Amino acid sequence: MAGLTMVEAQLDEPSKATAGRARVELLERLKGAGYQFVAPSVATHRRVLRRDGQTTARDLRDVFGWSLPFSRTLLEPGLVDCMAAAGALRLRDGLLVSTLRAASLGQDIFLHSAFPANAPDAVFFGPDSYRFANFLVHELGDAPRSGVLLDIGCGSGVGGVVAARCMSPSQIILADLNPTALDLARANAAAADVAAWFVRGDGVANINEPLDVVVANPPFIAGDGGRTYRDGGDLHGAQVSLDWTLAAAGKLAPSGLMLLYTGSAIVAGEDLFRAALFAALPAERFAIDYHELDPDIFGGQLSAPAYRDVERIAAVGVRIERWTT
Ligand SMILES: C[S@@+](CC[C@H](N)C(=O)[O-])C[C@H]1O[C@@H](n2cnc3c(N)ncnc32)[C@H](O)[C@@H]1O
Repeated sequence: MAGLTMVEAQLDEPSKATAGRARVELLERLKGAGYQFVAPSVATHRRVLRRDGQTTARDLRDVFGWSLPFSRTLLEPGLVDCMAAAGALRLRDGLLVSTLRAASLGQDIFLHSAFPANAPDAVFFGPDSYRFANFLVHELGDAPRSGVLLDIGCGSGVGGVVAARCMSPSQIILADLNPTALDLARANAAAADVAAWFVRGDGVANINEPLDVVVANPPFIAGDGGRTYRDGGDLHGAQVSLDWTLAAAGKLAPSGLMLLYTGSAIVAGEDLFRAALFAALPAERFAIDYHELDPDIFGGQLSAPAYRDVERIAAVGVRIERWTT
């Protein structure tokens, strides 16, 4: 990187419609080029860049996966123009840098925020998105469902797209509080050939339909008030998960299903989110299947003050089915 002070500038902002079309084209170009990149954790991303000491991009994966600056001549001019039209280019110290990352999952590619995703409106995609997607495929795979599908806190739209592929939905709704997430989800869903409605709002506040399938990967980190995609509120970060689940369960159609992926803090051997959930959802209305998918995620958080009494954070998968009557 040239000099000690990083000079970064936003290029001209394209209109929303132009940017939307260009993002879909960008995804198609990446697919056409056979682009593949699995988005790792922040810690791994940082470690790999530091270990390799690489500061400028050599290929598409460096530009769209590792978020490295690149020279204009690295990419074909059509692709650079497309990035500019998508509002995805910045100038940094005389080099270009993509403001978007692209993560692959099976046949699909999802645009999300460049590394490091520190802005309050950053759009998340990471190992949790992969675990969430695997959970959905596992739970929806056996008995294909139809009706209205809702993804709460859709981010890049990964949950809605993956769930839609496992069922025959009559309507797909992708909802998020963050308008930047909805912009990217719109492009990602279009490139995946998934026709959806996009709703901005807090949880399920703006959703009225009786819902047949609800999927969600809420924010679940405690003591992180800065970023919408991480801040899970009280209950050691499980409050948002609890609120969304109770609100969505109240809007489930008879036989409706909610699939929740989240992180739960374990305190002195006890899963407090699990206890709160079972206490709040009446057994005569809902069947609940709750299990750990991974016993230990985000271990780095345990040195933060908000986790002082927490022994581990578990990734959990929760299946909530409303009884027919
Ligand atoms: C952990 S990210 C998950 C994103 C995506 N579903 C995935 O699995 O990659 C949580 C998402 O919830 C959204 N979110 C946070 N608070 C919200 C709220 N009160 N209502 C709706 N969405 C919210 C964030 O903007 C973010 O996109």
